Amino acid sequence: MTATVRGTAASMPRPDYATLIQSDRVHGSLYTSEQIFAEELERIWYRTWVYIGHASEVPEPGDYVRKSVGPQDLIMTRDRDGGLHVLLNRCAHRANLVCEDARGNSKSFRCPYHGWTYRNTGELIGYPYRQGYEGNGKLDLAMGRVPRVDSYHGFVFGSFAADGPTLAEHLGAAAGEIDRLARLSPDGQVQLNAGWLKHRTRANWKLLAENETDGYHPQFVHSSIFSVTGSPIAALYSDKSSAVTRNLGNGHSENDLRPEFRNFGEPMRWFGTTQARVPDYVARMREVHGEAAEQILVEGAPHVMIFPNLFIAEIQVFVIQPLSAGECIQHSTAVQLKGAPELNKRMVSQSIGSVGPAGMLLADDTEMYERNQRGVAMLQPEWLDLRRGLHRERVDERGLTIGTATDETAMRGFWSHYRTLMEAAA
Ligand code: FES
Ligand SMILES: [Fe+2]
Repeated sequence: MTATVRGTAASMPRPDYATLIQSDRVHGSLYTSEQIFAEELERIWYRTWVYIGHASEVPEPGDYVRKSVGPQDLIMTRDRDGGLHVLLNRCAHRANLVCEDARGNSKSFRCPYHGWTYRNTGELIGYPYRQGYEGNGKLDLAMGRVPRVDSYHGFVFGSFAADGPTLAEHLGAAAGEIDRLARLSPDGQVQLNAGWLKHRTRANWKLLAENETDGYHPQFVHSSIFSVTGSPIAALYSDKSSAVTRNLGNGHSENDLRPEFRNFGEPMRWFGTTQARVPDYVARMREVHGEAAEQILVEGAPHVMIFPNLFIAEIQVFVIQPLSAGECIQHSTAVQLKGAPELNKRMVSQSIGSVGPAGMLLADDTEMYERNQRGVAMLQPEWLDLRRGLHRERVDERGLTIGTATDETAMRGFWSHYRTLMEAAA
């Protein structure tokens, strides 16, 4: 699968990433070069752990759902014993796409081209006119599969590399943020089964990844939604905010809004509501968590970007799918928390309002991504500046680098990890 990519990259001199990525600035070509994009596929998307889907999307034996990693078309399946598989949607005969439907339930897949049939584990079951193959027995062929698949709180990740760091090592400090999200469910379970929206975006994927924890832009880019809804969110990202931007390592980062919510000390403020409006949920959380419930209800959900493609934005999840240097798809869905129907309904309607086709939040950001992509094609001044807050960064009690709410600490963490991966031996 990576042979073509390798061939392309090997025929040209490799970009000098130490020059293109510096601690306080990055070069514009990182967003426009198709050669760099090809190297990213090889060194990031087809090597490191990448988010694929959520186990709650395939709850029953036989369930399957189409997923993607970059241009790779994948099928996540649940076999009859409950095992999870991530197959490449490619027939072992002559490479036709085996599965057409976005989701469904089936024990097997039948390729439409010549009728080869596969079990939902990827194993070849049979093919028409067996006499055409010598020995008339079983052919030693199967659908491709992502070699390493692992999950955390149902978030399924895959790595195309047979060896490398474990998922736990990759997630590192970011795992705690997924814990925080799961803890908001009275049953301790996140579900991503509300359906997905897809927005095709004419911008490089890294502009999205960098923006997810950029606390500098919300006051400006999202001023219209904040004023229409009277949202208190704007204040979280002001120069006066006590929130912090944290580099979680391995390219992951977060806007930690908890200091602001702790100042108010009001349960459910993080959700833009009060406990009186979601009484059943609050009662169940207190029943399950006892005294610890207060802190959970005050501090709310994480705002975390998990390198390279998973963004948990409190009540929504975004997945970034790069297609080329200048194009990607944003997949988004509402978070659903098992045992919290009061919240779930609201999370769906809030998501429609913010990231739906007429939503007011994602459209604002996307406008910025596409304007940025047009901007990086301009020849001067070549560099994107990354200095904001560099002089006031500090190390927290866990040894992680933090900046203020509006500092570019997260981006610097992203680029540092990106450079490590891009410079690693092939
Ligand atoms: S390509 Fe799938 S059966 Fe021929
Ligand atoms: Fe934004």
